[in-house]
Amino acid sequence: MSGFDGQSLATIIRGIYLNATETGWVVLYHPAEDPSASKDQFSENVICVDITSSLANDDFDEGGAAKIFSEAFAAWEFDRAPAGVEALEKNENIKKLPACVLVKNRNRIEAFYWIDRDIDAVKARIEQRNDSIFEIPSPCPGTAPEKLAGLAPGMSASGRNDVVKNRIALVTGGAQGFGEEIVRGLAASGALVFIADLNQKGAKKLAEEISAAEKRTAAIPVEVDVSDEASVQRMFRTVVEKAGGLDLCISNAGVLRAGSVLEQDLEEFKFVTDINYTGFFIITKQAGLLLRRQHRTAPDWKTDIIQINSKSGLEGSNKNGAYAGGKFGGIGLTASFALELVEYNIKVNAICPGNFFDGPLWSDPEKGLFVQYLKAGKVPRAKTVADVKAFYESKVPLKRGCTGADVMRAIYYIVEQEYETGQAVPVTGGQVMLH
Ligand SMILES: NC(=O)c1ccc[n+]([C@@H]2O[C@H](COP(=O)([O-])OP(=O)(O)OC[C@H]3O[C@@H](n4cnc5c(N)ncnc54)[C@H](O)[C@@H]3O)[C@@H](O)[C@H]2O)c1
Repeated sequence: MSGFDGQSLATIIRGIYLNATETGWVVLYHPAEDPSASKDQFSENVICVDITSSLANDDFDEGGAAKIFSEAFAAWEFDRAPAGVEALEKNENIKKLPACVLVKNRNRIEAFYWIDRDIDAVKARIEQRNDSIFEIPSPCPGTAPEKLAGLAPGMSASGRNDVVKNRIALVTGGAQGFGEEIVRGLAASGALVFIADLNQKGAKKLAEEISAAEKRTAAIPVEVDVSDEASVQRMFRTVVEKAGGLDLCISNAGVLRAGSVLEQDLEEFKFVTDINYTGFFIITKQAGLLLRRQHRTAPDWKTDIIQINSKSGLEGSNKNGAYAGGKFGGIGLTASFALELVEYNIKVNAICPGNFFDGPLWSDPEKGLFVQYLKAGKVPRAKTVADVKAFYESKVPLKRGCTGADVMRAIYYIVEQEYETGQAVPVTGGQVMLH
C-alpha cells in the first residue's frame, strides 16, 4: 500500500473543523494535478501541511497524521494573528480557519482539500478558486439555540430537528419504506443524506427529487449491499470522497421472509440473517473505523450509529424466527458495540418501530402483507384489505400503525440525548412495553 491515503486525511481534516466550531462541515479531496508544483505558487491563505514524518515505513499512520495536522493548524492560526500571542488572546472570540489545505509529502504536492459549510458552497469555492479564510465568531453561527442563550445543552425545547442540521448522514435501505421516510426527514431538517441501497435506480430518483425540493444538494445515492463487506467499504469510501466524513449512520436495510421453523429452508434463513444481523455488524465495523478516524482530531464531537430494529426484536414472532432472531441479536450487538465505541464518542442505539402499515411491506397492492393475509384468510371475517388493516390497527393501544414521523422523533431524541448509549428505544404505540 502506498503510504499516502488522501481520502482518510479528509476525515482527519474535517475533525479539526468540527472540533473548532462544533458544527458540521464538508471537506472535498482533490489529488494534485501537478505534484511538482511549488507551494509558493499558492496564496498565503492556503495552509500547507507536510505529512512526510507521519508515514514511517510507508504505512499510513492515522494517529501520527492527526497530530501533524493539529499542530500545523495551531501554528497557521497563530501566524495569522497580527502580533503573536497577545493579539491571539485579544481575538479569542474570532477563530480563523483556512478554506484550502495543501498536503505535501516528500517534496511532492499530493493533494488539496477544500472546505466549506455544505457541499454546494465548497463546490462554488473550488470553481471560483476562492480561498478566502473563515473568520468564525464564537459561539459559531449554527450553534444550538440553548447554548447561545447560555443554557446547558438540551435545556431548550426549540427546534429538536436542528440537531441534524448540517450533519452528514447515511441511511442504508434508504430508497423506500422506513428508509425513505428517514431520508426525507433528515434532508428536510438540513442534513446531507447518503441514500445507500441495492436499488440504485430508486435511490437516484429519490435523491434527485429531494435535492430539487430542498434547492440544494440534500441527498446523494450510493450503491451498497450491506451483507457484503467489500461493498460496504466502497460505500464509505464514496461518502468520504464526496463529503469528507460522517456524523450519523442509520443501519435500516432489512428483509423479511416469514416461515415455520419446521419448514423454512436454511438458505432463506441465512439470507435474512446475512442482511438483518450480519449486515449490522459490517455496517458498524466500517462506520466505526471512519468515525474513529474523525474522532482523532474531534475528540469531543459525538457521532451516532442507529440500527432500525423492530418490535420483533423485543418479543417473539410466530413463524417468523429468522426475522425476530436477527432483530433480537441486533439488540445484543447494539449494546456490545456501544460499550466498545463509547471510547471514540460514538453512541450506538437501536430503534424498535411497530408495524409501518402505510409502507410498501404492508400496503403494496400486489405483494403487501395485507393482500397476502386477506388471500390466506389469516384474519377471520375480513373481506377487504381495509378489514385486515383495521384488525391489525386494533391490536395497537394507540390504534394506528407506526409512521416515518414517529421514527424521526426517536432519531432526533437519540442524536440530541448525549447521555445515553446501547439502548433499544421502542416506538410501538404501546404494543410492546419494556419491563
Ligand atoms: N415495515 C415495517 O412494518 C417494519 C416494522 C418494524 C421494523 N422495520 C424495519 O425497518 C427496516 C426497513 O423496513 P421496510 O419495511 O421499510 O423495508 P422495505 O422492504 O420497504 O425497504 C427496504 C429497502 O432496503 C433495501 N435493501 C434490501 N436488501 C438490501 C441490502 N442487502 N443492501 C442494501 N439495501 C438493501 C431495499 O432495496 C429497499 O429499498 C428494516 O430493518 C425492517 O426490519 C419495518
